[in-house]
Amino acid sequence: MNQIIEDIKVVLDRNVELNSERFFLNNGTSILSTDDANNLNYLQNCFIPKQEWRKVNSIELEQLTTSIDDLQSNWDLGRHIGIIRIPEYLIQPLREIISTINIDLSQSRGDISKVTLNPNYQCAIEAIRTHIQQYTLMTNDEIKTLGIHCAKPQLITTTVNTVQYLPHCPYVGLHLDSWENSPLKRRHLSSNRICINIGQENRYFLMINLSLMKIFHLLGLSTINDISKHYRGVKLPSEFMQHFPTYPVIKLTLSPNEAYIAPTENIIHDSSTLDKHELDFSLTFLGKFGLLH
Ligand SMILES: [Fe+2]
Repeated sequence: MNQIIEDIKVVLDRNVELNSERFFLNNGTSILSTDDANNLNYLQNCFIPKQEWRKVNSIELEQLTTSIDDLQSNWDLGRHIGIIRIPEYLIQPLREIISTINIDLSQSRGDISKVTLNPNYQCAIEAIRTHIQQYTLMTNDEIKTLGIHCAKPQLITTTVNTVQYLPHCPYVGLHLDSWENSPLKRRHLSSNRICINIGQENRYFLMINLSLMKIFHLLGLSTINDISKHYRGVKLPSEFMQHFPTYPVIKLTLSPNEAYIAPTENIIHDSSTLDKHELDFSLTFLGKFGLLH
């Protein structure tokens, strides 16, 4: 299977432009060799995207996107990805804080506490949090601040496991988030996230455009037994990438101040800084967000 199947849809907000550098697609995934995993500080048996990227063609673009005008107030929490733009005046205070410090990259994630302990940090975060309230699907939905993440440039993927593998925090490769760890049947109802590019360069979101339940069916699974074997669905990503190594990964470009809204508990994803020259900074909030206005 080397062509994308229609499932997950990306929706661009009205003030976000669809330029030719927005969507790229590659020729699939591979498992890192033991040596590469050790040398690059990855967990064993990780999946990474192959690095032959091309721009998507018009048919693929149609399969990947839906116009905001066609949503008709139906935001699908588990299958829609939004691209929004946060006003410059809200991001600028964070950039100023970041520019005044030296991030120590000898620590694998950078010493981000120099940013978060700055006296102006909370105020800047609070202003952004207030702004993104307009994207919550229900007025009283809680927004949880996950905070700033910093990654070095030139990384194939950026997500590290800080929970089980301190202190060396290995990279995990293409993965599924499990903050809520819902059962497979309810994965599409999990909270999603807004992740804002607060850096000065483009940043890159990687994803396979298939929801977890779609992956379940593509693997030929359907019975009650299959459902109970894959109760939380956490093994489905690796099974999928093993069975369909030529299924393309999508690389989505986010300019500075742009953010994605994505159901990362329901899609295989990561970020990449391979095309970057400077540190990658992102700010993430968890909630139930969508584009309905
Ligand atoms: Fe993730």
